Amino acid sequence: MMTKSEDFLFRGDIEQLDPYMAQLIESEATRQVRKLIMIPSESYAPQAVRQALGSVFNNVYAEGYPSLRSMHESEELLSDEAYQLAYFRRYADRRFYKGDDIVNIVEALAARRVAQCFANPNAPVESIRANVQALSGSAANLAVYDAFMKAGDTLMGLDLFQGGHLTHGSEFNTSGKRYKVVSYGVDPQTEQLNYEQIHKLAIEHRPQVIVAGFTSFSWAPDWAKFRAIADDCGALLMADIAHTAGLVIGGVYPNPVGIADVTVFTTHKTLGGPRGAVILTTDEEKASKIDNAIFPGSQGGPHPNKFAGIAVACRLAQTEQYRQLQERTVENAKAMADAFRARGIKVVYGGTDTHIVLIDVSAIPSRTGFPLRGEIAARLLDLAGIVVNKNTIPGDTRTALASGIRFGTPWVSQRGLGPKDMDTIAGIVQDGLTGIHPFAYTGLAGELPRG
Ligand SMILES: Cc1ncc(COP(=O)(O)O)c(C=O)c1O
Repeated sequence: MMTKSEDFLFRGDIEQLDPYMAQLIESEATRQVRKLIMIPSESYAPQAVRQALGSVFNNVYAEGYPSLRSMHESEELLSDEAYQLAYFRRYADRRFYKGDDIVNIVEALAARRVAQCFANPNAPVESIRANVQALSGSAANLAVYDAFMKAGDTLMGLDLFQGGHLTHGSEFNTSGKRYKVVSYGVDPQTEQLNYEQIHKLAIEHRPQVIVAGFTSFSWAPDWAKFRAIADDCGALLMADIAHTAGLVIGGVYPNPVGIADVTVFTTHKTLGGPRGAVILTTDEEKASKIDNAIFPGSQGGPHPNKFAGIAVACRLAQTEQYRQLQERTVENAKAMADAFRARGIKVVYGGTDTHIVLIDVSAIPSRTGFPLRGEIAARLLDLAGIVVNKNTIPGDTRTALASGIRFGTPWVSQRGLGPKDMDTIAGIVQDGLTGIHPFAYTGLAGELPRG
């Protein structure tokens, strides 16, 4: 365990050395306890994960990777510190700096525990190669594109306005600038993915990469259908389960590993770990391209403290408590969608089987005749103690004027709230949002909604 005497020059706690920052940390901790946080991308990383993140692994540079051998070793072998260090002394490693003897174990252990979390009949644990170095989800996605496409190639993903992520080809993002983008949407009538239309589009445009995975679309995809589409047009299938990785581990969302060519996810959303991302594949050649695209392709030194955080999070994720948490998370989202619908509030996409509930606030009858927008709705709810984010819904054309707000149940489920509580929250939301008098004025940037 870290002791204070290990500090060389600036000895003392943050309370002594930077009291204002200590105060801000305390204020944030209080905010996180006092408010109901329903941002679907957020969850509460357990203290054990945060201890790993704040550990001395922060102090180490580790450009490169551990030995390929250790990336295939069992947790049992990786838990034998003496064996690992003896091997390291004899053979050294692929790192660019020395001093990574222990970091090597930590990175390989993180990768192994990730593989254990995602192993399934299509992908036994030994077949899974995990890169745990991507700094975040966006960096991971761009690295995968870079590994398998060249500038000007075609990328296909769900449109940003209909539930996709910025990195799925939005014009505002490098993905939309570097590649030719073909976006699929949801069916305007059913608000569901129309696999026949996606197939037609894929055959017409022959993308090099198809991304299946979403930011606000609330239903699980059919991985087999995406696989068939990718096979038919010769594309690489990338599953982006940034949001739903924790649900996959908990067994309440279909596992794409072994079906998709590459699976990417963030470690800080439903997974409940440190801020970071992981890229998985079961193909050694693809794994090598991915490793190269991360380092030296787009990143320098990784964050070894994050390896430690991922390893801890994935140890916790293999417990029965974690499985129950993920189950409750989905149960709560379903209850919330039902509670909104029962109150006449439009649930976009017609419901959910994940942790996400998107509602259309522009459809809530307005006292002034001017439609309520997501920004004002989210601001009001924040004042009332419910933290959500504005979100575009199918039909929107400007993110600033998003008509929706997005609720997520990971954090409130961690705190022990259940379906009845979701009904109570939906009631508070309804009271708040029907009480607003929405209006707008014209500002320098165009229409500025207020309420
Ligand atoms: C589907 C999807 N992919 C990728 C990302 C990017 O993750 P990050 O914010 O860590 O860059 C997100 C983040 O919300 C996401 O929803």
